Amino acid sequence: MYTQAMDTAPAEERQPLRSADEVQLEARFEARIAEGGFIEAKDWMPEHYRKTLVRQISQHAHSEIVGMLPEGNWVTRAPTLKRKAILLAKIQDEAGHGLYLYAAAETLGTSRDQLLHALHTGKAKYSSIFNYPTLSWADIGVIGWLVDGAAIMNQVPLTRCSYAPYARAMVRICREESFHQRQGFDSLRVMMEEGSDAQRAMVQDAVNRWWWPSLMMFGPPDGESTHGAQSARWGIKRISNDELRQKFVDATFEQAQVLGVSLPDPLLKWNAERGHHDFGPIDWAEFWRVVNGHGPCNRERLAARVNAWEEGAWVREAALAHAQKQARKQAQKQTANALQEAQAA
Ligand SMILES: [Fe+2]
Ligand SMILES: [Fe+2]
Repeated sequence: MYTQAMDTAPAEERQPLRSADEVQLEARFEARIAEGGFIEAKDWMPEHYRKTLVRQISQHAHSEIVGMLPEGNWVTRAPTLKRKAILLAKIQDEAGHGLYLYAAAETLGTSRDQLLHALHTGKAKYSSIFNYPTLSWADIGVIGWLVDGAAIMNQVPLTRCSYAPYARAMVRICREESFHQRQGFDSLRVMMEEGSDAQRAMVQDAVNRWWWPSLMMFGPPDGESTHGAQSARWGIKRISNDELRQKFVDATFEQAQVLGVSLPDPLLKWNAERGHHDFGPIDWAEFWRVVNGHGPCNRERLAARVNAWEEGAWVREAALAHAQKQARKQAQKQTANALQEAQAA
């Protein structure tokens, strides 16, 4: 699903000293981006740009596959066959998004094993929204509506990201994310319009719990976002965290009214002067607590991923052994053919 503008670059990624050649290459690179051009995997790029992208794309990929876990929790308890089929398809889409994104990150020269190792050892981040639990069936609808909805706001500008393999992956992903958002909204609409009072209360409770974490998905406020300016200059991030958050609040406000749910913010109201909705302060202390590993489900999520990696070892080994066997057979065949040709000659 889900990029989160966390801007958590480690200190060792500071810009190194450059040679005269590199300065010239970098000027050419920057000019290309300034005129709206794209960078391909084979093109020269500054090391810092490469590292920024590896970090961002891999955080995004990790978020896709960790995001499968809270939803997977409800596959066996979906209320109808139709909802179960939709949920399974959505979770499968998220796995696909993870794969597109790992493949895009690999074009920058970091292997998938390295990327996953960083996730499993807690070095790499993923979107902190997935460290919250899914307590009721309504949470699944709310994840589609709010979490996939916030993801779309974040991700549509990434389809114009200067790094072409990432931009291309995002085009495919965004098409699927908008289905995810609509299925979530539809599931909630059915509960609100045709459900019992208890079901409507369940939806409202889920909205109350997911609203603020959804706003946090856009990352820290612009003033505290240390790498935002550089990412904007490089055409990686084209719209700021706060601008995206505002767009999301404006769009969601009306959708909440259509659904008949209230958003848990007494300060949320239309501001005619600004032409936007005002909203209350976000609890950034909670955001950083969850990002830094102390949310309700951080341990559980990471343990599930590590376990899946360990349990899948035999599959990777078998696939490698099969590939080696095929390569050996192919080589033997080629040698035999070459011998035959030599004898015939
Ligand atoms: Fe999604
Ligand atoms: Fe996704």
